[in-house]
Amino acid sequence: MSQYKTPLRYPGGKQRLWPFVDEILIANGLAGADYVEPFAGGAGVAMELLLRGRVRRVHLNDSCIGVYSFWHSLLNEPERFCAAVSRASLNVDKWRRQQDIFRNRHTADRFDVGFAMFYLNRCNRSGILNGGVIGGLDQTGEWKIDARFPRNELISRMEAIAARKGDIKIRNWDAERFINQYVPRLPERTLVYCDPPYFRKADRLYPNHYKPEDHQRIAVVIQRAISQHWIVSYDSCNEIQAFYRGRKSFQYLLQYNAAKAYKGSELFIFSNQTRVPSRSSLPAIDMALSASAF
Ligand SMILES: C[S@@+](CC[C@H](N)C(=O)[O-])C[C@H]1O[C@@H](n2cnc3c(N)ncnc32)[C@H](O)[C@@H]1O
Repeated sequence: MSQYKTPLRYPGGKQRLWPFVDEILIANGLAGADYVEPFAGGAGVAMELLLRGRVRRVHLNDSCIGVYSFWHSLLNEPERFCAAVSRASLNVDKWRRQQDIFRNRHTADRFDVGFAMFYLNRCNRSGILNGGVIGGLDQTGEWKIDARFPRNELISRMEAIAARKGDIKIRNWDAERFINQYVPRLPERTLVYCDPPYFRKADRLYPNHYKPEDHQRIAVVIQRAISQHWIVSYDSCNEIQAFYRGRKSFQYLLQYNAAKAYKGSELFIFSNQTRVPSRSSLPAIDMALSASAF
């Protein structure tokens, strides 16, 4: 149902994988547990699980100040945020204004940055924050700037999320610090879902991305520091397989929508204690290819 959706369009968003993550919760006795996303972005899986009552609390983190400001402003000033969405003018002049605010995101007012992030996320092609506006600057494209801005629908999603404010924690830390300092304070009955920036081409998608050595370092941190159940998702490639050698993994095909729709092979990696749900329980995923250890 649409009111469970995150209000953000996210390049590489994983919302449609929520039934699989739900299966992981069930297979591991974690229904109703705490749930964590150290690389939250649009937090599509987190919102589905929380609003459907599958987990009791979600802990989100993202190092991007725009993403953080969006979630913080929505949770702390929901009426003001919804009012801003309700009366937002959708045109290229206003879009340029939001671009300016986002460019100055490290110094501008937090609410304004959160709203600018949301505006650009909904009005830019594929939701890419430093990308172009839908329809082009001359608005002669088939789709116009407002094509992905269904106000009432977005407001009802935001109201549903804001109503659970007490069960949503949000941080703006580097993931490494978050995993080392925040996650250890959470109960043993917790699922940590790490969805780092893609190994390949992430620089085109997010203001904050990783170099190969960062991916390697976070792989070490995840595998050493998280005592609770954890899962990691990635674009499938040899380097990532090497960083998580010996772990159970699950490869599947996913339709992307950033830039152009195509099928890519993606990967879930599981901590040793985490049971992998059976293939038959993957209703929302196109195709499960294999469940194996690297
Ligand atoms: C693949 S996206 C997450 C998408 C999310 N799972 C969803 O469904 O919307 C990766 C996110 O990690 C964030 N990020 C990048 N580097 C980070 C870091 N060092 N620490 C924390 N977050 C980071 C990016 O800002 C981006 O939002």
